[in-house]
Amino acid sequence: TPTEDEIAALIESNADLEGPLLPMLHALQESFGHIPRPAMQMIADRLNITKAELHGVISFYHDFREAPAGKHVLKICRAEACQAMGGNALAEETLAKLGLDWHGTTINGAVTVEPVYCLGLCACGPAAMMDDRCVGRVDRRRMDALLAEAGA
Ligand code: FES
Repeated sequence: TPTEDEIAALIESNADLEGPLLPMLHALQESFGHIPRPAMQMIADRLNITKAELHGVISFYHDFREAPAGKHVLKICRAEACQAMGGNALAEETLAKLGLDWHGTTINGAVTVEPVYCLGLCACGPAAMMDDRCVGRVDRRRMDALLAEAGA
């Protein structure tokens, strides 16, 4: 876990930029894989914004996460073409099966599930991505295989 000094150093090194918030968040995310909890108050104090505003920004940008990701990240497409091919049902079933909400991580730390908005595979939806690998026409069986492979 990152120390407060490490967090403070990253916050300070971006504090004088114009529009410092996003560079700060990117630096933290890059160094620690997520925005560490203590950083929230420190950023809010440094930039004189509320923690609610900060949460709003973090959840608006899908790049940032507030908790470390699991070993694998499964992204399920929620954009229109995939929705029309049953993407919502697939996502709901998958989340229910794992007992997770979006952005949640399985208890064994194997898989984090994230929404994504188009993977460029619209012609063969529903689409998903496990780590760097895109998969099209994901039905229940294919999803089960992906999850089993990832150790979920
Ligand atoms: Fe899902 Fe484009 S809409 S890949």
